[in-house]
Order: sequence, then C-alpha cells, then structure tokens
Amino acid sequence: MSDATIPIMGDGLPPALREMLGPEFEILEWDESAKSTAPSRAAGIITYGHPHVGGELMDRVPNLKVISNHGVGVDHIDVGAAKERKIPVGNTPGCLDASTADMTMALMLATARNVVVGDRFARSPEFTHYDPSQLIGYEVSGSTLGIVGLGRIGRQVAKRALAFDMKVLYHNRKRDEQAERELGVTYASLDDLLRQSDFVSLNCPLTPDTTNLIGKREFGLMKSTGILLNIARGPVVDHDALFAALNSKRIAGAGLDVTSPEPLPRNHPLLGLTNVVITPHLGSASNRTRNRMMQMTVENLRAGLEGKPLPWACT
Ligand code: DGY
Repeated sequence: MSDATIPIMGDGLPPALREMLGPEFEILEWDESAKSTAPSRAAGIITYGHPHVGGELMDRVPNLKVISNHGVGVDHIDVGAAKERKIPVGNTPGCLDASTADMTMALMLATARNVVVGDRFARSPEFTHYDPSQLIGYEVSGSTLGIVGLGRIGRQVAKRALAFDMKVLYHNRKRDEQAERELGVTYASLDDLLRQSDFVSLNCPLTPDTTNLIGKREFGLMKSTGILLNIARGPVVDHDALFAALNSKRIAGAGLDVTSPEPLPRNHPLLGLTNVVITPHLGSASNRTRNRMMQMTVENLRAGLEGKPLPWACT
C-alpha cells in the first residue's frame, strides 16, 4: 500500500471513515474556502461533502493520483479536467438507490399528508381535540407520479410508487422502452408530465441541461394541487420561481431534500412557508447505505493510489 496522504474536504471526514482508512493514511485537513491551505503533497482526495474540485485545485496537488467521491453525484467535480490530467474519479453508484428512493417516498408522504405541520400542531397548545376537518392532505395512493430522470434511483422510486397503486409517468432525454416493459411506466414529454402529474419527482443528475429545468414556465404547467419533490440537486429548480409558485399557491407544495444554495440562508423566504418540507440532504443517509458508501469510497481511493482501475469510476 502506498504511504499516501489524503486531504479532507469541507468539515472533515467522520470518525467512521477515518477508522476505515486506517493508520496508513495521513489525513490532511482541507477547507475549500481556505484555498491556500490546499495540501500540495497529497496523493489522493476524498470529497465527503460537496466542495468544488476543479482543474485549478488539481494543478496545486501535483502528485494527485485519484479523486474519490463519497456519493454518486459528481456535479461538484470537474470530471473533464480530471480526465485531461489522467486523474481517475471514483463515486458510489448503486448502493444508495434504495435509500434515496425511500427518502423520495418519505418526502412525498410528509408533504402530501401534512406530517411536519401535523407534528408541530400535535405538540402545540392549540391541539385540544380531534377535528376531522383539520389538515386534510392529498392522497398519495392512486395518484399520478411523474419522475424526471428514470435512472437507477428513478426506477426504485417507480417501484415504490407502483406499490402505492400510483400511475407512473417518466421523462428522460431518451425513451426507455425496457423500463416501460419491465416496470409498467409510461413515457411523457416534460410538459405533459408536468400537466398530468399530482407529484413531480426530480431524480435526475445536475448537468448544464438540467440546471433550472423547473422554473416559472414549468410551475405554470403543473396542477394547482401538484407537489414538487426535489431529491436530486438544488440548482435543478429555479428557487425564486419555486418560492413564487408556493407562496401564490400556484402549486400545492414541495418536498426538498436539496436546495440552492445549500443550506439556504437562514432568512430565505422559503423557510417561512408551511407548504414546503425541507430536509438537509438526507437522500442516502441510512446506516447501511452510508456504511457501504464509505467502503466504496475507500476502495476507490486505494485502487487509484495503487494505479489500478477504480472499481467504481466515473471517468
Ligand atoms: C449523492 O450520492 O450524490 C448524494 O447526494 C450525497 O453526495
């Protein structure tokens, strides 16, 4: 094994990941905002949060052999720049599909059925008696779900939704006839999906094509009873348009596991609305999944340092 040193991004690696890395690694603390401290003697990078890793950083770490991302989405890494420099980039696909799909369903149910508002109310002095006219939500079972991005995670969302007797539409850049046959989902153009869905779930990667994919025009197409779920990346949604749509009741609600920026500034107007449920990027945050993500991150790192192909490479 190499005697490599590893810079750590953001707030640092959690104890469990440090333990998994073991004593052979010297962990160099690295803070994206303090660029001057980028450790030039590092041989590998683990990105744990979502710090920006661009060509400029790569050039400041001349012995860099591998970038190992703890997570599947690599929109914060300039993968093209890494490729040009022949630095492999690893990520953790597959292991988090189920937990992220579970979280999509959690947000769908929480938003539609007033779980968070209901919890606050049930704890408050205002809850003095059971009133059947209070907090009437939208029924998930039997409704129509539109999935934007029927990839690995989107497929898992579809399977769960079908178990709730939902009709499932999907939109991808390319129609996926195999998924249609295997799952019983129906392709729709983005506009038709927005018009017909009771719930719109964003499960696509963040790319130049999906940045601000959902904005004022798109909210205008959704049902007034429609609920938007974003479990992908914040910038897929224009947040000014989202606030306007929620505030004016153009749409009924939103469930957001990701935002732009993330976290939202504490005085952001979205935080004052009751028809939005926000969670702090918990898509893959379950014990089994996070443990597997750490293992894959370390395996990718070790392979790259040894000059071997990464088991899970995205370049
Ligand atoms: C992912 O895997 O992309 C999650 O968002 C955590 O980074």
